[in-house]
Amino acid sequence: MLALWVDFERCVQPLAELGGLPVWFAASTMKSSPPTSFPKNEIKVLLLENVHESANEIFRAQGFQVETAPKALGEEELIAKLSNGVHILGIRSKTQVTRRALESGRRLLSVGAFCIGTNQIDLAAANELGIPVFNAPFSNTRSVAELVIAEVIMLSRQLTDRTREVHAGKWRKIATSCFEVRGKTLGIVGYGHIGSQVGVLAEAMGMRVLSYDIRATLPMGNNKAVESLEALLSQSDFVTLHVPETPQTKGMFGRREIAQMKAGACLLNLSRGSVVDLDALAVAVREGRLGGAAIDVYPSEPESNSDDFQSALQGLPNVILTPHIGGSTLEAQEAIGREVGSALTKFTNTGSTVGAVNFPGVELAQSEGTHRILNIHKNVPGVLRDIHRIVSERNANVLAQTLATDPTIGYLVMDLDKDVANDVRKAIAELGASIKTRILY
Ligand SMILES: NC(=O)c1ccc[n+]([C@@H]2O[C@H](COP(=O)([O-])OP(=O)(O)OC[C@H]3O[C@@H](n4cnc5c(N)ncnc54)[C@H](O)[C@@H]3O)[C@@H](O)[C@H]2O)c1
Repeated sequence: MLALWVDFERCVQPLAELGGLPVWFAASTMKSSPPTSFPKNEIKVLLLENVHESANEIFRAQGFQVETAPKALGEEELIAKLSNGVHILGIRSKTQVTRRALESGRRLLSVGAFCIGTNQIDLAAANELGIPVFNAPFSNTRSVAELVIAEVIMLSRQLTDRTREVHAGKWRKIATSCFEVRGKTLGIVGYGHIGSQVGVLAEAMGMRVLSYDIRATLPMGNNKAVESLEALLSQSDFVTLHVPETPQTKGMFGRREIAQMKAGACLLNLSRGSVVDLDALAVAVREGRLGGAAIDVYPSEPESNSDDFQSALQGLPNVILTPHIGGSTLEAQEAIGREVGSALTKFTNTGSTVGAVNFPGVELAQSEGTHRILNIHKNVPGVLRDIHRIVSERNANVLAQTLATDPTIGYLVMDLDKDVANDVRKAIAELGASIKTRILY
């Protein structure tokens, strides 16, 4: 099946099939020029910021053209590229995908954020323009969980201080305040993908695991959910935070919560920088109320590796500071490449939007012997009525259909008899509310 967008406003229309491949006409030249064939290998993918090769392999296996660039592009450079006919854009965290950039993408089908966050993309604009955005929220779960476990042991043995001393020529062979982790209690705040994985690994090392989450969660193994944050803090030797950034979690861990922790306990934050008050944490470590801390994320982080970095925690004993590397492993990068690359390919080939961050999620198994119409329209009253009218006027047989909406748009996937599908597609695309309409052969 070949996936192509029919976009009247943006001047490209597939009108017929030729040798199994659709033929496209540029609307501006439709009357005078012969049809231009548009084979699958003319679908253009632009991958910026050194997206992992695993994504490239997926696109190439489809026969798509792939252009890669090692760096992020500025807005004007990106506009120049997108207006040149890119169908799929892949970025990581640095490229800002603005409304202007999205609007310039005459043929842009979808955007892949080969990372976790998507705040570098104007998601609302992408939604309005009918461009789903996919990311990879869980590909680095294991990498973060493993680092947490490593840091629990490192804190328990004051490992970073010892190694620093030996590097500096000092020999301090001590056991004071150094412990095994077996039998100690780990408190996990936010028991989602990462938190629950940490719980499994910690239990395997003989730790007692408590969790606190605002939603009901299924405890893994012998992990035990507690009723309140206070209950978790008062019992835990290590507290590790794995919550998302929300209005509720911003500053959720400050002086009060630190005071509720056991004397000598350690705090780990590998979630989001806004969650912990680092000044309050620095005071608690300096005064010896806490035994140490491991911090990977900060309220404000440098833009690049060449920028300076300052934190109230620098130079404090038994404090591990890392530059937001929780998910930074080659395995995670590869998994992200595969996860996002597959989602973008699936959307191109079948119209599936499952996992898109700014779009109604739709997935429909393809019916045999049909053409599939994909229609994105403004979510205004009467669209479905008009579509049903178009279908019934043509006596078309709908073999399968699904519609999902969000406040702004509706996304319709419809499998139709081959002989009427192109006619139905054309009529639907001409509706005033239609944003994009595509047919899959
Ligand atoms: N350090 C890194 O490199 C790195 C890498 C990946 C993810 N992260 C961050 O880790 C965090 C967790 O990621 P995840 O994939 O496990 O997310 P997730 O969505 O799977 O889990 C988050 C959990 O936190 C819970 N939660 C939300 N608000 C809460 C609150 N106020 N109190 C208690 N629980 C609350 C949610 O119900 C959910 O179960 C995110 O902030 C993510 O950005 C960091």
